[in-house]
Amino acid sequence: MTSKDRVLELLENNRENYISGEAMADSLGLSRNAIWKAINELRKKGYDIEAVSNKGYRLGDSNDIVSAQGILASLDAAGFKPSTDMIHIYDTVDSTNKVAKEMAIAGALHGTLVVARSQDGGRGRRDHSFFSPEGGIYMSLILSPDKLKSLEPDVITTTTGNAVKNALKSLCNIDATIKPINDLFIDDKKICGILTESGTEFDSGLVQWIVVGIGINFDSDLSKFPSDLKPKVASLYAPGQAPITKNRLIAAIYQAILAR
Ligand code: BTN
Repeated sequence: MTSKDRVLELLENNRENYISGEAMADSLGLSRNAIWKAINELRKKGYDIEAVSNKGYRLGDSNDIVSAQGILASLDAAGFKPSTDMIHIYDTVDSTNKVAKEMAIAGALHGTLVVARSQDGGRGRRDHSFFSPEGGIYMSLILSPDKLKSLEPDVITTTTGNAVKNALKSLCNIDATIKPINDLFIDDKKICGILTESGTEFDSGLVQWIVVGIGINFDSDLSKFPSDLKPKVASLYAPGQAPITKNRLIAAIYQAILAR
C-alpha cells in the first residue's frame, strides 16, 4: 500500500476524530513530511481533509469518494471481511461485471469486489445498456459456487435483491420494492438493477464462478440522464445530499450477500 493509501486508511478508520500529523507519523512509521505529502495528494484527488491546529486532521463529513479503505472501514466486524487486495476500485471501466468476469476466470477468490465510480459500457439484462454516470454505485461481486447453499439463479438474484432492499431500509430508511426478476423501484421509478452472470464448464455442466452486478442511482444527477430514461428512473438522493456515504452502502450490501 502507498503512503497515501495508508493515510487514507487511518483517516477512514477515525472519521469522527482528529489525528495529529505526529500521531499519524508514529502509527504508520512515516516521517511528518511523508504524512504532509500524502495529505496533499489526497486533497488533489478531491478529498476534503480538515486541518485544525493543535488537533490535527480529519475527513470532512462531505467526503464521498469510493475507496477500498472507506469500504473496509465501513464493514461490520461480525461479517465477512475481505483483504484489501480483494477490493478493486476504478474511476471508470466499461463494465464492472466484465472486469469481474475476467478476474473470476483468472481464479479470483470468493468475495472479490470490483467497484467503479462510473461505467462507459454498463450492461443490463438481455444485452440492454445500463446508463452509469458518476453519482451511482456500480459494483460486481465474485461468488464461488462451492461457498453457496444454492446455485439456483432465482435464489441468487432474489438474495441479492433482498440484500439491497434491506441495506436501503436499515442504512437509509428507504423502502424500495423489488420487481421481478430483480429491479428495485421507489414510487414506480427504477433505482437499482441487478445482473447475475456465471461461467460453466461445458463438458461437465459445472458452474465455475458467478458474478453479481449491482447498479444503484445513489446521488445521481437525473437531469443528465437520456430523455427516454428520465421519466422511468429515480435516485436515492439529490447530488451531494446523501446523509450516508457510498462506501457504507456498498459495505452493507456486500456483507449482506456474503452472509447468505
Ligand atoms: C438491469 O437493469 O437490467 C441490470 C443492470 C445491472 C447494472 C450493474 S452496474 C454494475 C454491473 N456492471 C454492469 O455492466 N452491469 C451491472
